[in-house]
Amino acid sequence: MIADSLARYRAPTVDASRPPFIMLKNVAKTYGARAGGSVQAVESVSFEIGRGEFTSIVGPSGCGKTTLLKMIGGLLPVSGGTIAYHGIPSGQKRPDLGMVFQDAVLLPWRTVLQNVMLPIEVARGDRAAGEKQARALIELVGLRGFDDKYPGELSGGMQQRASIARALVNDPALLLMDEPFGALDALTRERMTLELQRIWSSSRKTVLFITHSIPEAVLLSDRVIVMTTRPSRVAEIIDIDLPRPRTLQISGDIRFIRYAAHIRELFTATGDL
Ligand SMILES: Nc1ncnc2c1ncn2[C@@H]1O[C@H](COP(=O)(O)OP(=O)(O)OP(=O)(O)O)[C@@H](O)[C@H]1O
Ligand SMILES: [Mg+2]
Repeated sequence: MIADSLARYRAPTVDASRPPFIMLKNVAKTYGARAGGSVQAVESVSFEIGRGEFTSIVGPSGCGKTTLLKMIGGLLPVSGGTIAYHGIPSGQKRPDLGMVFQDAVLLPWRTVLQNVMLPIEVARGDRAAGEKQARALIELVGLRGFDDKYPGELSGGMQQRASIARALVNDPALLLMDEPFGALDALTRERMTLELQRIWSSSRKTVLFITHSIPEAVLLSDRVIVMTTRPSRVAEIIDIDLPRPRTLQISGDIRFIRYAAHIRELFTATGDL
């Protein structure tokens, strides 16, 4: 269980001998092709993600990041190209995944605990073990004492933290996070960033994380994928070679500053900053 192993830090191991966990090849998405007035959101995107890696996607607003994440999560069909999981073509079995969306999408008539337990009910999992895990995760995201409150009784940031707990409750192999910290205040955001690093490093999840924050991407990631404006392509993939675990102080490290400056330059070069 995730919560049991949180106390220890363990660097994730990426097994290079196995095929990439997720592989995108020339993935494209055009919306509304049938209705006329189509919008090409994603032009031709290719990248690979290894099992256990933490990858971030940064790119200008409206460039197609959410679209890309939804296609990887199987919520949206691709218009072109392929997405393979462990060599399995899209449309076939995907890995267990947890998703956190830009806005917390909690069911208003269910309490925090009931919302967090939803994936367990859907998967018809063990209720008692699931409740134990749900309560541990609610505590982890700083919502201890709010188990029996309804979403309407929480702030936006608290709701988002509940939705992060819900995404983790089934201990998914793949965690897809779409700007999960966008609605949080600066202090909570920094705390959650460090918590996410801890969860990732102790649970060996593969995480794909969308953010607008360049420092957040550099702090958390093994690799940062920088996207161009719509229709999006990959501008550059940057390996972040910084020791772990990383603390907030690392943002003062010259290597960190160089990575962040380089990503910023990519946006400046394309006129996006
Ligand atoms: N359901 C839809 N139907 C038609 N067009 C859409 C739909 N969803 C998104 N789009 C368009 O596709 C493009 C990419 O949208 P997307 O939400 O993927 O961008 P994003 O990079 O996540 O932006 P942001 O950073 O603001 O969240 C936009 O031009 C948007 O208008
Ligand atoms: Mg988006």
